[in-house]
Amino acid sequence: MKFYIETVGCQLNVLDSELAAAALISAGWERLATRKDADLILFNTCSVREHAEEKIYSALGRLKHWKTQKPGSIIAVMGCMAQKDKNVVFQRAPYVDIVIGPGKLDQLVELVNRAVATGEPQLAVSLDRFERRDLPRETRASFRQFDPIRLPETRPRVFQAMVRIMFGCDKFCSYCVVPSARGPEQCRSPRAILEEARTLAEQGCLEITLLGQTVNSYRYVENGKTTRLADLLEMIDQVPGIRRVRFVSSYPTDMSDDLLAAVRDLPSSTPYLHVPAQHGDSGVLQRMRRRYTVEEYKELVDRIYETIPGAAITSDFIVGFCGETEEEFQKTVDLVRYARFKNSFIFKYSERPGNEAAKLYEDDVPEEVKKRRNNELLAVQNEISGEENRRFLGQTVEILVEGPSKREARSVAQEETLYAECETLDAPEDAPRGDGLTSVDALVATGRSNDAQLTGRTACDRIVVFNGPTSLTGTFQRVRVVETSPFTLFGELVE
Ligand code: 5AD
Ligand code: SF4
Repeated sequence: MKFYIETVGCQLNVLDSELAAAALISAGWERLATRKDADLILFNTCSVREHAEEKIYSALGRLKHWKTQKPGSIIAVMGCMAQKDKNVVFQRAPYVDIVIGPGKLDQLVELVNRAVATGEPQLAVSLDRFERRDLPRETRASFRQFDPIRLPETRPRVFQAMVRIMFGCDKFCSYCVVPSARGPEQCRSPRAILEEARTLAEQGCLEITLLGQTVNSYRYVENGKTTRLADLLEMIDQVPGIRRVRFVSSYPTDMSDDLLAAVRDLPSSTPYLHVPAQHGDSGVLQRMRRRYTVEEYKELVDRIYETIPGAAITSDFIVGFCGETEEEFQKTVDLVRYARFKNSFIFKYSERPGNEAAKLYEDDVPEEVKKRRNNELLAVQNEISGEENRRFLGQTVEILVEGPSKREARSVAQEETLYAECETLDAPEDAPRGDGLTSVDALVATGRSNDAQLTGRTACDRIVVFNGPTSLTGTFQRVRVVETSPFTLFGELVE
């Protein structure tokens, strides 16, 4: 039996897909790169914005035909939209066989077997934490932890891996679906995390990205001893073979001095911090239910740059949130200029029915205004990204070579995005634009003929394109930067 997984959404989903694949492979299934000969199609979905959901439903619509051509085949919908929409998925796409939420992934193989055996629809979702406020313990237990099997063949690159350190979210930002889709915050034990890091290192993993919705809120208490993210970084630093560790995404108020010092001092910790600000105006931040003012965020930015020389900070922003005035929007532009982010992911506000913002405020910024503000902010950010990258001109940087750059230069630039799949689903104006094409073409033209065009990443997560033998994939190399664009550094190997 063969399966194919299609993934949209953030890195949490990318990891869930990898873990789902590992579970199925361990149960005897074979993974395919296309859906053509698949007996099982898994659709890993995202609910962060309405537009993403609509795209998923129309993609599901196209599967109806596939299903009629292939009787006995199974369609499974997993991810945040499965948890959010539950039975609605079956109503909108009656040929779907399995709906499984992110808190039930440990049951995936069992559900697939049951669907194959019975032909009956299978639903496994966690309790709704807003509907069942009276059952906090049961709700938590219904979002089950999933201590997964790690198989190197399920990763795009053996030498890079993500490790989940916590599930869920307890911050309750007013615009966000995550606290309901992924449930209460639950941290994995340091023992399980360390064991996973060791397994990955034995499989040849050099770089680990620790994942959590608010990763720097990590806290685990056992036998009176509290472990925080800084302690975890120290523990993983001791794992032989792991050369680089980063973590995403951080919540601004949980960025302690200890943590910043750990990032600065630990050889394996990298100076890359994704700390979504979401907005540059304190009033809007309050409506968003973020727990800081813009002044506090700016102080954090200062503290990061003071503590970690060469730190690269990235952010997320929402434009067009309920009631956002032009003046408030300009404060976001000011913050982008102040913080000099390496890059920002910019989203137009999308009302999510049922959450607090939808209940309290009107989604009153017209779509054209959202679009214009999105583009304006993107233009400012690109200008800054370009300037920050230009500082690398002539410098030699150490990169982990990721392999041949198969895609065209524009896509290389887009790889930059933490929400890459989300972006491809969304309107193209959401995606970053660059002048990379010409630069890469120029580089290829001057390159040595038997070398391939390769990409790699610096410790601060900048993409570097250069020419070299593909055998360098998965090794650390030194590259001298000869040209830059807002999204990419172009370099030459230093022998
Ligand atoms: N509308 C638009 N963007 C959103 N995000 C989260 N919820 C929404 C929403 N309702 C953005 C935030 C978050 C990123 C993953 O998506 O910026 O950090
Ligand atoms: Fe990730 Fe949020 Fe989308 Fe869920 S809704 S996949 S947590 S971005």
